[in-house]
Amino acid sequence: MRADPRAYFQETFGAFGETCLATAPGRVNLIGEHIDYHGLPVLPMALRRRIEVAFRGRTDSRIRAASAGYGVREFAWTPDLTPAAAGDWENYLRAAAQAVAGRWGLLRGIDAAVVSDLPPAAGLSSSSALIVAFSLALLRANNIHATFEELMGILPEGEHFVGTRGGGMDHAVSLAAREGCAVLVNFEPVSARPIPIPGDWGFLVAHSMKTAEKSGAVREEYNARRADGTAALHELGFASFREVPWSEHSACNAGFRAGARDAGTKAGMAGQRPTPQCDAFRHVVGEAQRVRAATEALESHNAPAFGRLLLESHASLRDVLKVSCPELDRLVEAAMDSGATGARLTGAGFGGCAVVFAPKGALPAVREGLVARFYSAHPDFDPDRHLLTAEPGAGALYLETP
Ligand code: GLA
Repeated sequence: MRADPRAYFQETFGAFGETCLATAPGRVNLIGEHIDYHGLPVLPMALRRRIEVAFRGRTDSRIRAASAGYGVREFAWTPDLTPAAAGDWENYLRAAAQAVAGRWGLLRGIDAAVVSDLPPAAGLSSSSALIVAFSLALLRANNIHATFEELMGILPEGEHFVGTRGGGMDHAVSLAAREGCAVLVNFEPVSARPIPIPGDWGFLVAHSMKTAEKSGAVREEYNARRADGTAALHELGFASFREVPWSEHSACNAGFRAGARDAGTKAGMAGQRPTPQCDAFRHVVGEAQRVRAATEALESHNAPAFGRLLLESHASLRDVLKVSCPELDRLVEAAMDSGATGARLTGAGFGGCAVVFAPKGALPAVREGLVARFYSAHPDFDPDRHLLTAEPGAGALYLETP
């Protein structure tokens, strides 16, 4: 159960005056992993779990925010904010303030109470949802109604302030998702096309019980995959992945033919042992094709094809890009053994969650199977945090905010 943000606000800051609400959901990516930062389309959906910020505008430029479990933070909103201590949640507030100020200048600050029913560090994008909701609170307190495009111009970049160099998928879906739909997110120019999810399709988000902290080693691995893909692209003589030809055979082969022609063995593409750059390239072009095929499968209600594509995506993330881990692989296997139609790691990988796809009617059996086959070995398994039924919800721009 989510706490009432307004009640929490009044408890923390006093019961005088009106409060407003800004809300942003977490997300689960259905398919299109490790390609958003290369400007390629991805297909996530928003969850019904979210961050809520009850806020009141101040007359000065201070920002004060409280979050149960994380404490109260207060700072002056000045130009060129510097990060707070590494790992402190104040960094997300500062990231939002810095992003907003970069586009609209310094504004009036807010008092804010933050509540969430999104499990943190589970790969469900709770940190992006916090930055989205807090930015919207700052803007609304100043009567600024920003468009999706304007927000996408500041938010992904703003998150880099916290030290992660992700793509724009999380912010796009948290802003622009529609109830009952997945979102085909395109970049350059950014757009979000809702695609209805058939009513009898069901999804679970299952935690591998291995936490993938977005700091330290995982961050380095993530950034390395991004750098490898970019290096391969340039070696092959392309300026962007969007230029890689979609050949009559497979985009992968097309890329390698181009590589053999333009760059030869220099990039290690034509050699015996694939380099990490070559692997990253292969994953990215293959995954982009799977997103296209999965979009078609979704639009034509073709569940078997959709499920197969999820499995192919997982195999590529595991064997080619190498961002899975034994826990995630076992979880995906357990899901398939329990009657799922498809499953794959979701998000950055190295731990975190898998998305499990099955007919809605089969979800209870898949859930039971996962508990028996996977979670029974984990004494700290908590179904409310580790095994969620994912219903496609609306994004921040389409949620009712009374
Ligand atoms: C993280 C990032 C996203 C995306 C995924 C991998 O979740 O925040 O932008 O790059 O990893 O697909």
